Amino acid sequence: MCEKCKDKYFITTPIYYPSARLHIGHAYCTVAADVMARYKRMRGADVIFLTGTDEHGQKIETKAREAGVTPKAFVDRIVEGEKGVKDLWKLMNISNNRFIRTTDEYHVKAIQRIFRRMYENGDIYKGKYEGWYCTPDESFWTESQLVDGKCPECGREVVRASEEAYFFRASKYADRVRKLLTETDFLEPKSRVNEMVNDFIDCEGGLQDLCVSRTSFTWGVPVDFDPGHVVYVWLDALFNYMTALGFENDAHDELEQFWPADVHFVGKEIVRFHSIYWPAFLMSLNLPLPKKVFGHGWLVINGAKMGKSLGNVVDPYLLAERYGVDALRFFLLRSFPFGSDGNFTNELLINTINIDLANDLGNLVSRTVAMVGKYFGGQLPLEQQEDEAKDDELITMACDLAHVYEEQMEKFSFQNALGEIFKVISRANKYIDENEPWKLAKDEANKPRLARVLYNLLETVRICGGLLRPFMPATADEIMKRIGAQTSDWESLAFFGTLYRDTKVENGPALFPRIDAAVELEALEKLLKQDAPAPEAAQNASAQTETPAEEAPLPEPLPEIAFDDFQKVEMTVVKVLACENVKKSDKLLKFQLDDGTGTPRQILSGIAKFYKPEDLLGKTLVAVTNLAPRKMMGQLSCGMLLSAERGDKLHLLMLDDAIPAGSRLC
Ligand code: ME8
Repeated sequence: MCEKCKDKYFITTPIYYPSARLHIGHAYCTVAADVMARYKRMRGADVIFLTGTDEHGQKIETKAREAGVTPKAFVDRIVEGEKGVKDLWKLMNISNNRFIRTTDEYHVKAIQRIFRRMYENGDIYKGKYEGWYCTPDESFWTESQLVDGKCPECGREVVRASEEAYFFRASKYADRVRKLLTETDFLEPKSRVNEMVNDFIDCEGGLQDLCVSRTSFTWGVPVDFDPGHVVYVWLDALFNYMTALGFENDAHDELEQFWPADVHFVGKEIVRFHSIYWPAFLMSLNLPLPKKVFGHGWLVINGAKMGKSLGNVVDPYLLAERYGVDALRFFLLRSFPFGSDGNFTNELLINTINIDLANDLGNLVSRTVAMVGKYFGGQLPLEQQEDEAKDDELITMACDLAHVYEEQMEKFSFQNALGEIFKVISRANKYIDENEPWKLAKDEANKPRLARVLYNLLETVRICGGLLRPFMPATADEIMKRIGAQTSDWESLAFFGTLYRDTKVENGPALFPRIDAAVELEALEKLLKQDAPAPEAAQNASAQTETPAEEAPLPEPLPEIAFDDFQKVEMTVVKVLACENVKKSDKLLKFQLDDGTGTPRQILSGIAKFYKPEDLLGKTLVAVTNLAPRKMMGQLSCGMLLSAERGDKLHLLMLDDAIPAGSRLC
């Protein structure tokens, strides 16, 4: 077995807050981890796939109080109850073989020992915390980390807090963590490294020590040597990855074999905890570091993170029931690159099912199986012609597929891995049209050739179906059954010709019935609306997650450009001489601007939703003044005003009025 697919593999998802029902945004990461776990098992690895729930903290305590139950009863219902976390993973066919709850007794005891060890080695010390605290996020921030005076993570109000607390000497590990991030492949995608280093390590004041205990609430792991303190929820939560294997407890015994973890999959907003504090904690205890942290993007709806505002969650139960679990799993990984944000739309979901699954995959399987039925009574004859030169392309593609697929899977490029499979599926559909089996069937003398064509198709289906197995386990089983495949193990998937020559096929209903998109879209929209929580309930359910506009996800970084390219953009300070709404447009404002040349410059800008014309008179703004003029609503616009957008908010860039019109930005 190759090094990459060594015999032990340990993969984790974040452990989820059981504070409200999970949505498909949560399912995204767990499905991806499941695909990876299944892929590794297919490669022969012994896999531990860990997921679980992160059940302590002020948020849960508050919600339980609101619900009039104890915190434990509250989380029990969401974790174990109907349509709870465990139910959801069952529904999504998640193959985790370990599930940790941070309220599990062995974990609680282990956290107490860990905290004590770090205290005894001097990395945890008692101090007084004075800083800015974001209650919903349970995070302390320094003055310089606040954005516009608000929590830099969620944009909500922070309060000045001061309490006696224990601190972890994160600062001591700053250099080692910086090295880890900048000189190794520990954190991926690489695009996330700079942000971590610049914002948290090389920021003003450097990496700050982390406050790791609380006294303002009680729902947490008690610090056993100092009653009144509970362990900070992130320290408690991060160590789940090791306690679940038996670190500082006897409930499990796989630490030696499975630690360090091969990969932690985490959402991008919690990369900070996983790539800075988590390795620092481990360094403090002289423990091996996980091999990789992969920060995936979010599922967003109209630019806002799913789960962050009223009515923007999509229920996995509803989708799975309507389209099937495999289709939903497939959609999540086929439609978006794992490292970036993906915009969820009902259209995309339905089109993906129709195009990839119903048309391409479904048709290939059903046409091929049906032709074996029609022309050979369901079983291919042993007598088959040898391949012809025109078969080479399909056979080579199918033979190479496992290899190119492996390359993508090892990089967690699930979308590309699927893309490779679908290239072969398309090629196979084309092969049917090229060979016109229906014509071959007309002449008995062509039967050996016809048998060969159909064999090549069945074998291609076997390979594609086998490689789809981690993504769509039930569909893969069904495909193997239909084509009479005895095996689709990894070795056989890199080898063309494994299927018995005289394989027997089995007809069946369409694997993925085609959806009438127009009708379905209307129905789905209605259902999702009905399913959205009622305003009051929703407010409760998302009390800790509700999003002000500033919290909208950061845009994805753009590719690097040369300095010369940047210099080509002429940015000029302008003053507003006149401003009015454009008739028949609810978006556009028309500006006359002083750009220092003496001739007013006309610019149209789509900001009418955000500003009243009269409020902008006399303001000092910035315009790009060398953009080619263009017409909007029949009027000429000579340039563009600069503004900053985040979520559904927009702010024009305004400068100090002392800067004269015509000054150039550089
Ligand atoms: O962060 N798209 O728990 P959590 C993609 N308890 N991923 C999403 C998402 C979306 N719209 N919404 C949520 C926590 N997630 C901690 C983890 S680990 C030691 C502790 C992802 O329930 C999110 O990015 O708030 C995160 O990775 C995971 O769901 C759990 O989020």
